[in-house]
This record gives sequence, structure tokens and C-alpha cells, in this order.
Amino acid sequence: MSEQKPESDQEKKKINRREFLNFAWLASLGFLTLNIGGITYLFAMPRFKEGEFGGVFTVGKVSELPPAGSPPANYPKVRFWLSRTPQGISALYKVCTHLGCLYNWNDQENKFICPCHGSEFQPDGTYLAGPAPRSLDQFKIQIVDPNSGEVLAESKEPGPLPVPENPDAVVRVDTGQRINGKVHG
Ligand code: FES
Repeated sequence: MSEQKPESDQEKKKINRREFLNFAWLASLGFLTLNIGGITYLFAMPRFKEGEFGGVFTVGKVSELPPAGSPPANYPKVRFWLSRTPQGISALYKVCTHLGCLYNWNDQENKFICPCHGSEFQPDGTYLAGPAPRSLDQFKIQIVDPNSGEVLAESKEPGPLPVPENPDAVVRVDTGQRINGKVHG
């Protein structure tokens, strides 16, 4: 029988170094996996919370909307004016399409007027006058049946969205999806 020699110091060192390298490799792999997992989780999270600017804001039921022709309702936290005309509703982004000032509603003149260079817009955001190159931008609106979740109406292009008959349908504005106003002239 051949006798096994005790490991030399040199061999012990080699094993220790190998073990260390294995450990370091496994540790880096674990670290990498954790990082990828963390990044994936962050990307999977919605970027904006419901109800805040950048997310979806629930305005209320169709029956709670202001009547057509009434002054637009101001929603400063989510940065839009909700305007209702006989053609439907619009969620108008509060920033002027000229150079980005905040325009105001003028009750006497029944139109929006920008204080910076005087651009004017109709209640539904359509361009009227001034240096603005296009009508007001608006956010996407969805009107949803509260029981079935079916989308009854959805704005896909500039202009007011006709309001469906269902008084219980829920009106939601997605302030993360902007529809540019029509360029005039
Ligand atoms: S920024 Fe509104 S008219 Fe110039």
C-alpha cells in the first residue's frame, strides 16, 4: 500500500487561494443577481402613483361632471383644466403651447388667455389667436363602466371626447399620456 504524504504548506496555500477565488466568484455572482433583481423590480414598479401628476387621476362619475357650457374646472395638482362643451369633455394641459407659460381662464370673455404673449383658446382648447402654434395639448381620457370595466369611450385624437349616456361610468384622466393640440394655419 502506498502511503499518502501529508499536504505540503505550498499545497495548502494553493487550496486556500482556490477556495478564496471560488468564494469571491460566488459572492460577485450573488451581488450581480441581486442588482439585476433590484433593477428589474424598479422597472416593473409604476413610475407615478395613481392620483398624482404623471399617473391616472379619477375625476368621478359621468353624473358628477359639470354641465356643458359651464366654466372649466381647475385641477391644479394634476395640472389640467377639465372643460365640458356640447361636443364632450377635454382635460387640457395647463401649459401654453407657445412658450410654456400657465394660461388662465377668463370668465368674462369665455376663453383661455395666456398672460405671457396673449395667446387665446376656446373652452375646448382650440386655438383662437396669438403666437401659439397649435391648440392646447390635452391628456387622454377614459370613460369606464364601473361594473364590467369595459372602456366606453377613450380619447385618441385632439378634441373633446363625447360623453356616454351611462351616469355611473367613471371618468379617468391619464396625465402620463398627452395628445398634442392641432397645429393651425
Ligand atoms: S407662452 Fe403663452 S402666449 Fe407665449
